[in-house]
Amino acid sequence: MSEQASLTRPAVPANLYGARVHSVTHYTDKLFAFTCERPAGLRFRSGEFVMIGLMVGEKPLLRAYSIASPAWDDLLAFYSIKAPDGPLTSRLQNIQPGDEILIGRKPTGTLVLDALLPGRRLFLLSTGTGIAPFASLIREPETYERYDEVILTHTCRTDRELDYGREVVVAALADPLVGEEARPKLRHVTTLTREPHPLSGRITTLIDSGELFHSLGVPAFDTDHDRVMICGSVPMLNDVKALALRAGFVEGANSEPGSFVIERAFAS
Ligand code: A2P
Repeated sequence: MSEQASLTRPAVPANLYGARVHSVTHYTDKLFAFTCERPAGLRFRSGEFVMIGLMVGEKPLLRAYSIASPAWDDLLAFYSIKAPDGPLTSRLQNIQPGDEILIGRKPTGTLVLDALLPGRRLFLLSTGTGIAPFASLIREPETYERYDEVILTHTCRTDRELDYGREVVVAALADPLVGEEARPKLRHVTTLTREPHPLSGRITTLIDSGELFHSLGVPAFDTDHDRVMICGSVPMLNDVKALALRAGFVEGANSEPGSFVIERAFAS
């Protein structure tokens, strides 16, 4: 390869945007978050995901990521695992402010307010990086226009894995745009499965036993007025979906709103 060719960066493919990384925060050796400039033409609804990635050689390497910032924000935020052998995350974890990442032009997804029928209480049930789309929705003004109560649950293995969720909730409560509505409506419930914690156990167990509702001092699920969004690993989605169906909730989609919606936290 000539010196000239080796110095030339491959062009961003036409179906993608290039966006400059703004900030990177490492939470644990397995978790990090980052923000980038929002491409001027990018439209999305709070809760949607988009393909993001890096050029590897001449080719884009892309994965689906939930956008963790709300639709009105100037920055796009993402929350990611670092998989040592993951083709993308093993590279993405090394990004620095000023680097360029690739963003798809067509955000989409089902964890959006429009995929749910009107209701009074919104449950956002997440494990691990599955909290990302809810970080977007808890800063979305419409969430608080549509619901009287918003209950965000986040289950992780260890306490340090809860830090990102704690930060985004503090940010939502302090947000000049939504803080005033969020403060009386938003509740954040954390549960751990592999370290002691005030509320311990999987979310499925805590719902089945009623401990989740008891600890919040709220009534159990009521399919007429409750709406549920679920985001986590595939086994978590399967189990929580089964639980939601048993309780009488009906799965929704963009084309036909229902009383619950699900989406994978991370498509590897
Ligand atoms: P556990 O520690 O009992 O496996 P992961 O990092 O594997 O995605 O897990 C994140 C959190 O989700 C952990 O607290 C884990 O609990 C929990 N979890 C894993 N699988 C399920 C499932 N099928 N249903 C509910 N929670 C789950």
